Amino acid sequence: MVFAELIVTFIAALVIIYTYYKYVLFSYWRKKGIFYVEPVVPIGNIGSLVTNKVSLGEFFCDLYIKYKDHRAFGIYTFFKPNLVITDPDLIRVVLTKEFNNFHDRGIFCNEKVDPLTGHLIALSGKKWRNLRVKMTPTFTSGKIKQMFAILKLRGEELVSSLESVAQTGDPIEMKDWFKRYTTDIIMSAVFGINSNCIEKGDNEFQYWGKRIFKEHPFWSVLSAFMPQVLDFFSITMLDRGVTKFWTQIFRDNVEYRRTHNIVKDDFMNLLIQLMEKGYVESDDVDIDESSSTNKNRLTLLQAVAQAFIFFAAGFETSSTTATFCLYELAQQQDLQDKLCKEIDETLKKHGELTYNVLNEMTYLHKVINESLRKHPPIPNLIRICTEEITLPTTNIHVPKGMAITIPIFGLHRDPSIYPDPDKFDPERFNKDKVAARHPYTFLPFGEGPRICIGSRFGYVQTKVGLVSLLSRFKFKLDPRTTVPIIIDKKSFVLAAKDGIYLTIEPRK
Ligand code: HEM
Repeated sequence: MVFAELIVTFIAALVIIYTYYKYVLFSYWRKKGIFYVEPVVPIGNIGSLVTNKVSLGEFFCDLYIKYKDHRAFGIYTFFKPNLVITDPDLIRVVLTKEFNNFHDRGIFCNEKVDPLTGHLIALSGKKWRNLRVKMTPTFTSGKIKQMFAILKLRGEELVSSLESVAQTGDPIEMKDWFKRYTTDIIMSAVFGINSNCIEKGDNEFQYWGKRIFKEHPFWSVLSAFMPQVLDFFSITMLDRGVTKFWTQIFRDNVEYRRTHNIVKDDFMNLLIQLMEKGYVESDDVDIDESSSTNKNRLTLLQAVAQAFIFFAAGFETSSTTATFCLYELAQQQDLQDKLCKEIDETLKKHGELTYNVLNEMTYLHKVINESLRKHPPIPNLIRICTEEITLPTTNIHVPKGMAITIPIFGLHRDPSIYPDPDKFDPERFNKDKVAARHPYTFLPFGEGPRICIGSRFGYVQTKVGLVSLLSRFKFKLDPRTTVPIIIDKKSFVLAAKDGIYLTIEPRK
């Protein structure tokens, strides 16, 4: 009898929950009269994501391709409404024209308990704005030129480490090698130390680098849906070991430089300037930055958080880009030959690789852009509505707090924008073709005031890596690598599930 009552109560509870979801929680888009994708109780539209059937990039790409005729449409992530925007004009509104209504990403940030979350990617509102203004001079071409020697040296080290592998003809996992290369660059440019990953792959820097992206699934879901709970209980999102490791090495190196009066041309020096003076010295001797109004100095922890995010945002994205370039070039030897010819001729003309020489390699730039189109490392952009607005030219009213997704991967794979989208064709980035496309249909670095601050540095480290390798080696696809790639469902950046294996042989 008791058992029967329990079953009835259980079924009644299920019916109530189902009805509540279906007619209350899932009524948002219907009531607003905005097209939406029919949700399923209780996960909304993200069933295939939760069950790991597709990656985040593929998920929004599939939705884009199916529903792109609606300029924007609604979905539910669990019970939360999310507006997906597909029309480039509306994307421009959100990212740029009405930026003041959409200036945040809604990423978890609690500087008190998790000091390293106080970085540019996660900060919101005024705090983000002040920091962005301070950090922008750090990434000028003048500053990157000063750091060029670091990049070139790492490129040479990568070549010499691969020289012996090239003799054996054994396949290599390309992403692993590029990750070691970008880790060494960023560790020396940002933390001022030689992490030696190219020489010895499996070391503590690689270990703590991987730990950054190791998420605690429960806390991640909680941070997305009820961040107040994390705040209330002072729960940390980042592994404490990660915070300790990165803070320690930054602090030690700052102290070492101060004690020994060492000044180098790198990001660490610029972060020290921000801690000591509150501004970065200008490349232009005629500009006196000390008169700047935004002179609040960074605390040590604020500086560590920025160093940490340069590392986290910079090593994985650039190594992914360089890897996909070689993956595509290995399949089309004629394109590889064309790029090698450009590299050889330009190097011969100038005698050495410099920042300016790199910028003369126009075909290289097209190859990288085509790789970023076909395989954008960050496949979606996110924004939170920070002030309610009706999107111009639509009847879509966006309330404060609404999450917005912009499916970059979908736009980049749309055959009406990029005909035959699976084909790797750098000529798509010829000047006339670029001019004929809507500017908001190529967004590998995002757009608007929150565009990637490190894009120039990302391009340069990708280019130096490719030029160093292609001037010495020829790359072919190893049969272990699938065509097309199978995308890793668990990876935050767009990545190949089983790696990219290539064989290399000396060119000369
Ligand atoms: C090929 C390499 C890279 C790609 C594809 C890439 C992509 C992106 C994307 C898509 C965003 C979001 C933009 C938006 O929401 O509109 C972003 C933001 C950001 N990236 Fe990159 N990135 C790369 C390299 C780097 C490097 C090398 C650094 C630093 C050294 C960096 C630091 C950042 C930071 C700090 C932000 C946040 C900017 C802000 O909110 O103000 N990125 N990146």
